[in-house]
Amino acid sequence: MKRKIIIDCDPGHDDIMAILLSLAHPEEIEILGYTTVCGNQLVEKVTRNLCQVLTAIHREGKIAVGYDAPLYYAPDPQPLAHGESGLDGPQLPEAKIAPLAIHAVDFLKQQLEQSEEPVTLVALAPLTNLAVFLKTYPQLKEKIAMITLMGGAIGKGNILPKAEFNIYEDPHAAKIVFESGVPIVMSGIEVCDDCSILHSEIDALKGSGPIQDLAHEILQFFSRYSRERGKDRSPLFDVAPIMHLLHPEYFISRPASVQVEVAGQYTRGMTVVDQREGVSQKQLNTELLLSCDREKFIQCFLEGLAWLDKN
Ligand code: RIB
Ligand code: CA
Repeated sequence: MKRKIIIDCDPGHDDIMAILLSLAHPEEIEILGYTTVCGNQLVEKVTRNLCQVLTAIHREGKIAVGYDAPLYYAPDPQPLAHGESGLDGPQLPEAKIAPLAIHAVDFLKQQLEQSEEPVTLVALAPLTNLAVFLKTYPQLKEKIAMITLMGGAIGKGNILPKAEFNIYEDPHAAKIVFESGVPIVMSGIEVCDDCSILHSEIDALKGSGPIQDLAHEILQFFSRYSRERGKDRSPLFDVAPIMHLLHPEYFISRPASVQVEVAGQYTRGMTVVDQREGVSQKQLNTELLLSCDREKFIQCFLEGLAWLDKN
């Protein structure tokens, strides 16, 4: 059965890769729309990036702009990873599509009310939009099949020693989402390390078709950070939740209790995963992805890009 999804994102190089993979599977995934939020860059920039990329690949899409700042903390854009535009690297055409006039939270309400079956929310960015939606329309939680999110970590960190960026940026929002009672699938840093692309695989994309060339330009910029540090691969963070929707069998996971540290001298945004024996059933609020078969992951991802160039 085709799964209806809404992608909440902050494009963002890896956000775009997740969107391309979703678009490459129209038989399994129906994208009802996109909501954008302040994260990698300010919300105006990430929204423009999304509009320009969809224009470049000749696709339409319903886009609703969300919050321009986290619930409490100030925006903390990441030009080192994503550039001043939020999607530095590719030459993109002027956008021929524009966002809707309604706010992301109202778009989520509209789509969940209209959908006959529950909708999967794919969260690839700080969770500000989803948190406000859950607090404003709690009665619509039953129309959410699950929230599958890229965020957090079991023990690692990227923006801080023990915090991953999406959770760090808006930990108050993340706390609301993890405590909401909605089924959550969490792709943390550890499983994203398995969901990686070799720099040689990026290089091989060039010259294979316009969308593979676009992916090549995007990933060339995105992989700078890892290449400069002598690594042979880069994690495609945001692709992990989409790949899990398509192929859960590629992953190993377990139920887990996850809590969010909202403030701490060293631990703002830490996802505290309780690994003790005997954690009670009611505390198990998350399906925690532990690992992924990289060879199967990257084969499916690269086949998806090739499919887009043929369809
Ligand atoms: O930590 C990785 C996450 O932060 C990804 O979603 C990436 O796009 C950035 O938003
Ligand atoms: Ca993202």
